[in-house]
Amino acid sequence: MKKVLVLAGDGIGPEILAQTMRVVQWFVEQRGVKMEVREELFGISAWKKYQNLMRDETWQHVLASDAILFGATGSPEYEKIPYEARRQDQLLRMRKELDLFINLRPVKAIKALQDSSTLRPEVLEGTDMVLVRELSAGLYFGTPRGIETLPDGHRRVVNTMVYTDTEIERIARAAFELARTRRNKVCSVDKGNVLENGQLWRDTVVALHQKEYRDVELTHLYVDNAAMQIVRNPRQFDVMVTENLFGDILSDCAAMCAGSIGMMPSASLSAPAASGRKALYEPIHGSAPDIAGQGIANPLGSILSFAMCLAHTFNQPQEAKLLEQAVENVVAAGIRTRDIAAPGGKSVGTVEMGDAVVRELDRLHRA
Ligand code: IPM
Ligand code: MG
Repeated sequence: MKKVLVLAGDGIGPEILAQTMRVVQWFVEQRGVKMEVREELFGISAWKKYQNLMRDETWQHVLASDAILFGATGSPEYEKIPYEARRQDQLLRMRKELDLFINLRPVKAIKALQDSSTLRPEVLEGTDMVLVRELSAGLYFGTPRGIETLPDGHRRVVNTMVYTDTEIERIARAAFELARTRRNKVCSVDKGNVLENGQLWRDTVVALHQKEYRDVELTHLYVDNAAMQIVRNPRQFDVMVTENLFGDILSDCAAMCAGSIGMMPSASLSAPAASGRKALYEPIHGSAPDIAGQGIANPLGSILSFAMCLAHTFNQPQEAKLLEQAVENVVAAGIRTRDIAAPGGKSVGTVEMGDAVVRELDRLHRA
């Protein structure tokens, strides 16, 4: 039986995950999806109870789980706890230690949400891409790193973008494999005109393509151009693969194609393995401290992340489709949280959005 660990975390995390858990429960009760669920405190709530952002017990559950449903990390309250206790980011620790190097960020323009994007409808129309972000190396993890004080009293900072060809090859492979299940196109994004990092990135992607994936159409863009192309003509992309920080930035940019960053799910996966793979599912928006506790956050990014869990951890793509359909129907019926409200239109709260998704699932299930 699959083990699912729920870490709601900081900010709006608990509010949105509460709605996702109703959906999880629905799939357990109505569709016979089998799982063992456990919930643990993470982040500021864990600090308040245990003086630890993630206790060792929780870490053991992280290691033992097949899937983690993650809410969000980040809060102004981190400033108040000792630096030593927060030096290591616990989300990045999970990404690294579980070797979750494949981060899938699908970007789909839902027709009903065209009016909540700042991009023109004819630009959005038909957008359906997946951003494959390398998640366990690159600028986020490279050493040396840190701030030092120089003899003259000024300070100096270093971060390092490190990749081995092995790390590049395995994420490129994930992108090519994914493309074969879609429209068979990969766009690889780098900064090879300036950084050696981008040169090795491109060489490695091209070599793998030549060797094993000649049937997939491969193109390349520099990351600055890629950002512009995503808002100029997002329809041109099928699968886009890129470095960790570039993927972080480009996925927020691409979120405008989905109408709101609140709609954006993600899956972080380790290498496929016969014994099963590790996975963490989270919306890409973060903790949004400015609206935390107000009951207005959009739970759909988190709910759609659970759809990715149904597909990738439970191997039940038809159940994932059912959930995606329910979400599309709900927003098409005009039920919108504030971030995706039609201009001048009414909006619902987080719980009402959860109500609407469960109601729609019931309806689809009975139909
Ligand atoms: C994301 C987030 C995280 C990141 C933060 C919360 C560490 O922005 O998943 O995109 O930078 O990777
Ligand atoms: Mg981000």
